Amino acid sequence: MTNAPVKKVPIHLQSSQNRLLIKNGRVVNEDGMEDADVYVEDGIIKQLGRNLIIPGGTRVIDATGKLVMPGGIDPHTHLELEMMGAKTADDFYTGTRAAVAGGTTTVIDFVLPQKGQSLIEAYNHWREKADNKVCCDYALHVGVTWWSPSVMKEMEQLCTEEYGINSFKMFMAYKDAWMLDDYQLYCAIETCKNLGALPMVHAENGHIIARNTEKLIAAGKTDPEGHELSRDEEVEAEAVNRACVIANQANSPLYIVHMMSKSAVRALEIARTRQRQPVYGETLAATVGTDGTHYRNACFRHAAGHVMSPPLRSDPSTPQAIVEALADDRLQLIGSDNCTFHEKHKALGKNDFSRIPNGVNGVEDRMAILWQKGVNTGAMDPCRFVAATSATAARVFNLWPRKGLVAAGSDADLLVWDPRLTRTISAASHAHAVDFNIFEGQNVVGGPQYVIVNGRVCLDDGDLRVVEGFGRFLKTPAFCPYVFSSEPKHHTVHHQEPHQLPESPRSHSPQRVTN
Ligand code: URP
Ligand code: ZN
Ligand code: ZN
Ligand code: ZN
Repeated sequence: MTNAPVKKVPIHLQSSQNRLLIKNGRVVNEDGMEDADVYVEDGIIKQLGRNLIIPGGTRVIDATGKLVMPGGIDPHTHLELEMMGAKTADDFYTGTRAAVAGGTTTVIDFVLPQKGQSLIEAYNHWREKADNKVCCDYALHVGVTWWSPSVMKEMEQLCTEEYGINSFKMFMAYKDAWMLDDYQLYCAIETCKNLGALPMVHAENGHIIARNTEKLIAAGKTDPEGHELSRDEEVEAEAVNRACVIANQANSPLYIVHMMSKSAVRALEIARTRQRQPVYGETLAATVGTDGTHYRNACFRHAAGHVMSPPLRSDPSTPQAIVEALADDRLQLIGSDNCTFHEKHKALGKNDFSRIPNGVNGVEDRMAILWQKGVNTGAMDPCRFVAATSATAARVFNLWPRKGLVAAGSDADLLVWDPRLTRTISAASHAHAVDFNIFEGQNVVGGPQYVIVNGRVCLDDGDLRVVEGFGRFLKTPAFCPYVFSSEPKHHTVHHQEPHQLPESPRSHSPQRVTN
C-alpha cells in the first residue's frame, strides 16, 4: 500500500472565515439548554455566553429563534464500499457532502477487509480512499470478518496511537462472506475487551437466513419481499441475545449496530439486566423514518431500494416504538448505515432477492428524520435529540469532549438549527450521488440553516459550500473512560492519553452549559 497523498486543500479555503460569532441562539447540549452566543476562532469554540467581547472583523450569524447544537456524529456509514458485486454510489466526497448538508459533521465508517485480507492493509486502503475526499472529520471502525492469530495481532496494532482504532465490528450474518461463528465471535470480543476496544455486532442468525433463503428461492419467491421473509424479527432478536450472552461471558462491553425491530429491543432490554458491562444499542434513520411495507411494492426498483440488513419491519408500529426506545434510553444512538446503491446495482438481484446489494441512504436525512419523528411528536426533547445524534457517539467512541458538545474548547462543529424550516425529501434535490431516497416525498419540519465544520461555514443559510478534503481523520484512543471506566487499565501503552486534544487553550473539562 502506498501512503495517502498529502492534502491539496488551499490554505485560504481551510480558514476562509477564521472568526465567527453565532448570536442570540439557544444552545442545546445533551444535559441542558441555555441562551448563549458562541464565539469561534480557528476552528475551536473559544467563548460561550452573552455580551462577549469579540475582535473586529468577525462574521456574525444571527440565530434568533434558532437552536445551536453540536454537529451530528453518524456512527455508522459505508462510503465507497464494494459489497455483493457492487460499489456504493456515494464515496467519501459525496457521502460527507450529504452528511454536512443534513447537519452531520463527523462520520464513522467501517473498514471491511475481505476474508483473508490483512486488517492493516484494509485500513490503509480506507485511509487512501477517504483522507483527500472527506468534507468533514471522520473516524473508522474495523471489521473482523475472519479469524486467525494474525487478525488478533493486527487488532492490537490497530489499537495503538499510530492507527487510532478503538472499535471492531463482527458479523453474525452474511454466511460465507463476513460471518464469524460463535467461537470466533467470543475470541474477537475477548480480544476487544483486552485491548480496551468496543466490540460492535451485526446481530442476525446467518445460518437461519441462509436456509430460509434456499427454501424461498426454491419455492419461486425471488422478489424483494423474500428478503424480509428470510430473516424475520426473531432471527434478529435471537442474535441480539446471543451476542449479549457472549459479551457477558467475556465480561466485555458491547455495541449492537442497526437495531431494527421491537423484538430486538426487547431482547436487548432483557439482556441488559444481567450484563456485567455496558451494552449500547444503535438504531437507524431508516428504522424510524420508514418501514418494511415497501418490500411489497410492485416496482422492483422501489422495493429493492429498501433492501438492507437487518430489514425494515412490516409491523407498522415499529418506527414509533423505536423512537420511544431511543427517547427512554432502551436504545442509545441513531446512525444511518448509509450504504447506497444505484438502480443498476440493485438490479443484480432482479431474479433473486439474495443478490440485491444491501443498503440504503440516511447520512443526509438522519437528523431531520429524528427531529420530525422524535422531537416534533413530543417523544423526546432537543437535549435527548443531541444525545442520540452526537453526544453519546462522541462519548462511546472517545471523541468527547472534542466532539458532541457546545462548550469552550470543543471543535467548532456546530449547527444553527431552524425548528421551522420545512423541506420535502427527494432524490431530485438531495446531496447524495445515489439515484434513490428511501424517505422520498416525506415532509420534515426542522433542519439546519447553517452547518459549521471545524469553524468553516459549510452550509450557509441553505447554500452548500463544502470543500473536498477539508475533513481530518480522527484517531479514537482505546480504553475510552466512558465505556471502560470501571475496568482495570492493564494495557499499558500510550493510547489512553487524550492525544487528540490540541494543547492550546482548550481544557479537559470544557465549560459546561447548564439550564
Ligand atoms: O444492509 C446493510 N446494512 N448494508 C451495510 C452492511 C451492514 O451490514 O452494515
Ligand atoms: Zn494496544
Ligand atoms: Zn451490519
Ligand atoms: Zn452497516
